[in-house]
Amino acid sequence: MSESRDARHRAGVRMAELAKAIDRANRLYYQEDRPEIPDAEYDRLLRELQDLEVRYPDLRAADSPTRRVGAPPAAGFGTLTRRVPMLSLENAMDEREMYAFDERVRRILGSPSPVAYAGEPKLDGAGVELVYVDGALDVGTTRGDGRTGEDVTANLRHVWNIPLVLGGDETGCPGRVSVRGEVVLPLVAFRRLNEMRVVRGDEPFANPRNAAAGALRQLHDIDRRRLGALEFRAYAIAEGLPASVRTQMEVLGQLIAWGFTVSPECAACHDVDAAIAYHTKLLAHRDRLPIEVDGTVFKVDRLDLQAEVGELPRSPRWAIAFKFPPQQERTQVEAIDVQVGRTGALTPVARLRPVTVGGVTVSSASLHNQDEVDRKDVREGDTVVVQRAGDVIPQIVEVVKADRPAHARPFQLPRHCPVCGAATVRLEGEAVTRCPNLDCPAQLKNNVLHFASREALDIDGLGEKIVDQLVDRGLVKRPSDVFALDARTLSDLERMGEKSAANLAEAIGGARETSLARVLIALGIRHVGAGVAQLLAGHFGDLPALVDATREELEAAPGVGPTIAESVERFFSDRHNRAEVERLQSLGVRWPKQARGRARTGPLAGKALVLTGGLAAMTREDAKERIVAAGGRVASSVSKKTDFVVAGEDPGSKLQRAQELGVRVIDEAELVRLLES
Ligand code: IVH
Repeated sequence: MSESRDARHRAGVRMAELAKAIDRANRLYYQEDRPEIPDAEYDRLLRELQDLEVRYPDLRAADSPTRRVGAPPAAGFGTLTRRVPMLSLENAMDEREMYAFDERVRRILGSPSPVAYAGEPKLDGAGVELVYVDGALDVGTTRGDGRTGEDVTANLRHVWNIPLVLGGDETGCPGRVSVRGEVVLPLVAFRRLNEMRVVRGDEPFANPRNAAAGALRQLHDIDRRRLGALEFRAYAIAEGLPASVRTQMEVLGQLIAWGFTVSPECAACHDVDAAIAYHTKLLAHRDRLPIEVDGTVFKVDRLDLQAEVGELPRSPRWAIAFKFPPQQERTQVEAIDVQVGRTGALTPVARLRPVTVGGVTVSSASLHNQDEVDRKDVREGDTVVVQRAGDVIPQIVEVVKADRPAHARPFQLPRHCPVCGAATVRLEGEAVTRCPNLDCPAQLKNNVLHFASREALDIDGLGEKIVDQLVDRGLVKRPSDVFALDARTLSDLERMGEKSAANLAEAIGGARETSLARVLIALGIRHVGAGVAQLLAGHFGDLPALVDATREELEAAPGVGPTIAESVERFFSDRHNRAEVERLQSLGVRWPKQARGRARTGPLAGKALVLTGGLAAMTREDAKERIVAAGGRVASSVSKKTDFVVAGEDPGSKLQRAQELGVRVIDEAELVRLLES
């Protein structure tokens, strides 16, 4: 074997190995929620595979995991008109309506004997159609208005269980196959997503359907992991049905053979009574299902009979959705409490008379902000409808105005902070009402927790219960006071033994040796998170230069725009904040000076990148700025020293050069991922 043949062979073997490892990692991460390898390791595997695929493009497998991480759609979504429209379903709300449905079916068929149905869960997600041409995924669309949908192929490719090529049959699947189903967001992922949104101050999604539909239609969210959490469940073949398939249950079998996921709860029901029993059983099981199901769907099982029963313009007469009762209950708002967070944000929270909704007791619901309170017009004493839409975070859907007590007054967030009494402010254009007092105990507690958090000064053991006591006893009046604590003082706290006090004191001592970036994070300057802190530290080298920097000087730092510059300048022009920095130093907090200039750390530290082709989600200038901020540099031509070539739309000759030199080529999505890693 010649050397290059040998190298090719080895590459092929390695590529198969990598694909297998990546598929496994995806399965553990998305499906089983128990990742085994760290993200960085995953990225390394994926990158190695991408490298090999650039070098040996003809060895790239049609179902390679790299095909799932394609570029995001460039502009708005195009629309596509489909040959066979996607219909909707008529609903049955109770057993009587189910019997009426069955009678109508039998009347049309002229059949006195029972008709068999395929029973399926009604999935609460976003309906989509996937078209395969000669066995390979060609285009995927949203349901849209049934006839015309949006082309969301690029996003659908991220959905881990959508087959990129149809499996099963040795002869392949010639021609066009169109498969329909639902894209759903599993409840675990939905809850995690909503928790994150709440932390960020965004309104949580009302239900997994909205979250799934939103994710699918994201233009700019090229976060592979969020789309990757989505799941596809197939339930119909609209085109390319093999002649041997005669019933809906066989349709499901064929879908499985092609490699699709089908709801495991699907079952044949020999008559309408069996269908109702199926519904009752699934309803009892509802809370244990991993995805949101809002009913059951029954379809005449035999396809020839379906054709006989026929369709109405909007829905087939051979199928029906038997809905579950909604997960909503009524209860009363006992009071509206106000919570104060780290940034001073005041959040109204409705305290509810406890009520069981879908098996879970609900006793409070966030109202998010004043606008939300106004929109729903929730008042103390009101009767409200609360819902848990597959969500642990309950929501107030609406007020039952007819039951409103005469004395109920509109709710207004207080003019004074309920914790410290300072006058609250609401800036124009902002939804949030804040307590501006930086010494407010509520803010202080949260600030101290942030100060000690892992990415800031990383003081192990300084948790909520301890911080509460430290602030309440006046031992900590500003975050820097933490460094004045000793083991004796700490051991006086409740639930604090000698040993834990000594451990905490040691952790505080250890945190004194730190880095400039960590100090900047710890100070809690608005808009200065880990990434910005790194680049400020890299650019200014030490604190005095940064403290005295003018807005212009700040903006000269790579990756710093007017918003960050203004925030940093405002922070350091406040003498309390300057005093806090000095105090930290006088209490022994130290960090090494950094060489000024390019960030030495960051996800792209020391890397040389070349850009070619058009970018979709950012301008070239933005891209350059962000690369530099992440520690990298942008070169104008490709050489052996280039680490990555970023290929956008219509890449130029630089791409070819990169391939000749064996330089790694990445797309925009991956660039963003690197920048954010
Ligand atoms: S069959 C022609 N099966 O519900 C039959 N639809 O309310 C229509 N849906 O547009 C589709 N689970 O998006 C079918 N097991 C299931 C379903 C299901 C959820 C959705 C689908 C449809 C909507 C109608």
